[in-house]
Amino acid sequence: MKIVNGEKMVLGTCYYPEHWEKEIWREDLHRMKKCGIEVVRVAEFAWNLIEPEEGRFVFDFYDSFLDLAQEEEIKVIFSTPTATPPAWLTEKYPEVLNADRNGILYRHGGRRHYNYNSLVYQRFCARITEQSAAHYGKHPAVIGWQIDNEINCETDVFYSESDTVAFRNFLKTKYGSIDHLNDRWGTVFWNQTYNDFSQIYVPRHVINGNENPHQALDYIRFVSDSACRFVKMQSEIIEKYKKPEDFITTNGMFGHLDNHKMTQESLDFFCYDSYPDFAYSLDRYDSSPDALKDRWSSLSLSEIRAVSPRFGIMEQQSGAIGSTRGMEAPAPKPGQMTLWTMQSVAHGAEFISYFRWRTCTFGTEIYWHGILDYSGRENRRVREVDEIHEKLAKLSDVAGSFFEAHTGILKDYDNIWDIQVDAWHRRVAARSEDAIFEAAQRTHTPIDFLYLRENIKVEDLEKYDILFYPHPVIVTESRKKILEKYVRNGGKLILGCRSGLKDSEGHCVRTYLPGLLRKLAGTNIPEYTFVSPEDENVVIRWDGVPLKGEIYNDLLEPETASAEVLGCYENCYYEGTPGLIRNRFGKGEVYYFGATFIRETAEIFLQRLGAAEPWHELISLPESCEIAVRKKNDVRYFFVLNYAKESCEIFVKKEMTEVFSSQKVSGKVKMSRYGTAVFKWDAKSICI
Ligand code: GAL
Repeated sequence: MKIVNGEKMVLGTCYYPEHWEKEIWREDLHRMKKCGIEVVRVAEFAWNLIEPEEGRFVFDFYDSFLDLAQEEEIKVIFSTPTATPPAWLTEKYPEVLNADRNGILYRHGGRRHYNYNSLVYQRFCARITEQSAAHYGKHPAVIGWQIDNEINCETDVFYSESDTVAFRNFLKTKYGSIDHLNDRWGTVFWNQTYNDFSQIYVPRHVINGNENPHQALDYIRFVSDSACRFVKMQSEIIEKYKKPEDFITTNGMFGHLDNHKMTQESLDFFCYDSYPDFAYSLDRYDSSPDALKDRWSSLSLSEIRAVSPRFGIMEQQSGAIGSTRGMEAPAPKPGQMTLWTMQSVAHGAEFISYFRWRTCTFGTEIYWHGILDYSGRENRRVREVDEIHEKLAKLSDVAGSFFEAHTGILKDYDNIWDIQVDAWHRRVAARSEDAIFEAAQRTHTPIDFLYLRENIKVEDLEKYDILFYPHPVIVTESRKKILEKYVRNGGKLILGCRSGLKDSEGHCVRTYLPGLLRKLAGTNIPEYTFVSPEDENVVIRWDGVPLKGEIYNDLLEPETASAEVLGCYENCYYEGTPGLIRNRFGKGEVYYFGATFIRETAEIFLQRLGAAEPWHELISLPESCEIAVRKKNDVRYFFVLNYAKESCEIFVKKEMTEVFSSQKVSGKVKMSRYGTAVFKWDAKSICI
């Protein structure tokens, strides 16, 4: 069996045979099967069970588990256990440990306390991977491999001595000479000049945290590179031993990591870990009744889709989540497990594995619940999995389809990482991305993220009528070129403040802003400022509608005949100065909006540019519902997800088949609280 195979939706769960006595394994596997679970993920923290002491390998534990799984017809995703090095290893070779910025080592007792660059750790990881893959690669129960667990989760910074050595090599390769590095890091500032690479370290303790920003940016690139290399090393080993039809994946999406590179080099597809109740612990948590809450997970799912258009969920929340150290979130209410599963499927998932089968009764995660509570007694969540299984069986045709969106948000790793090192960039970027996503959600506008990578083609951009690139602070020649092509061929591009300010190493450009984007935007920026507290009512009025001039303002000056001022600033000392310019460029147009996007601003753009509610002639919905579309050939599947605790009505304007009930429906359709429905529409048979 394959998962994410374009043929069917598959259910799984994370199982830890090492947490339970052998006597209950068979019953557990049996019960899983009964509620439709066909796959378990195992072994990601179980190094000691395979190599209990240096160089001694034992396989009886997983042999007996895998043989039993085979007997019970449950398939297995086997993991490499490299996220948790054993005590015997870290004790004897402390150089494998990660350190904090002050060089203090992280010790045994938690997880992910290792670093990617220790040659000793790489050797041990290669060996445990090789031993596991050689032994289990051909086991009939195994269908795939998970590398490590959640690369860069818990920490995405590494300050060990091995990291410094590797960082120097990374920089030598990048810059060739120390003079070149001094130039690109601007080390003449504050007398930071280096005579030799041996004087360079990973970022260290400096006064007031005033580190060199160019070094900080390169450091993040280095961390990403190190993580990708670590994953690739394991993937190449597994590749030698696995069955050709088996897959390699890893899970979770974390910072300081080029997930595209990692996926392209080392994985067959990517998996996400979806805990929608994290919304209760995030900065964006908002207690107002209509806040997005668990619906914010759709943003992360869209991010994963940008890396891996069809993907798996290795860990889907199935119980209350939290920890003894503070976080607490409620158990999924009846219907919410189904809702969250369908949210994942709607966005492109074809494999859903619940975290975890049984809730652990000991250790750090006693409050991170699984499907079963501590006693293992039957409960409503198991029954809900069973119902989900029946629903997914009806969705098998959806497997192999792709999410459909005609509006996109552009991103690139230079800017994602610059946000980490530049607080000014962070203030505008953090706000705008959420705002545009929320506006798209509220206006029922499916939206994709699209990453501008070196190998991207203009056709990839041309799938979208409208692209927001809210704050491309760092712009490179190649990104400029592709944007120009996209617009010249008819695309619509929306830029926000601070665009084009920096080059790839983070130096501010000395040309007129917006730097490389000046020609495309048809404007320059004689002045700019953070919005001062006295000017907090600043707006840019566009056709009578005041758009808030949030956070930061670029004062614009049109400079081509094709550039048209659409809106000017009001309620500030620069009142009357252009704040929104549209430049016609080739067959397309660019909007330069001088400020940060808030939800209302993004909604106006979506509406005025004709992107909002693309499916309103087929289905109209209240704001509490999300609509997501998956398409295969001429057939579309409209997923409607009601996140509210009240039932609601939607209006289906053309007769379509509701997949779960197999009924043809039109007119008013009731959506229960947390309800989900999928409408199938064959474009050949119905026209709008
Ligand atoms: C994930 C992780 C799991 C488990 C879960 C609950 O991040 O992969 O191993 O820790 O969270 O905390």
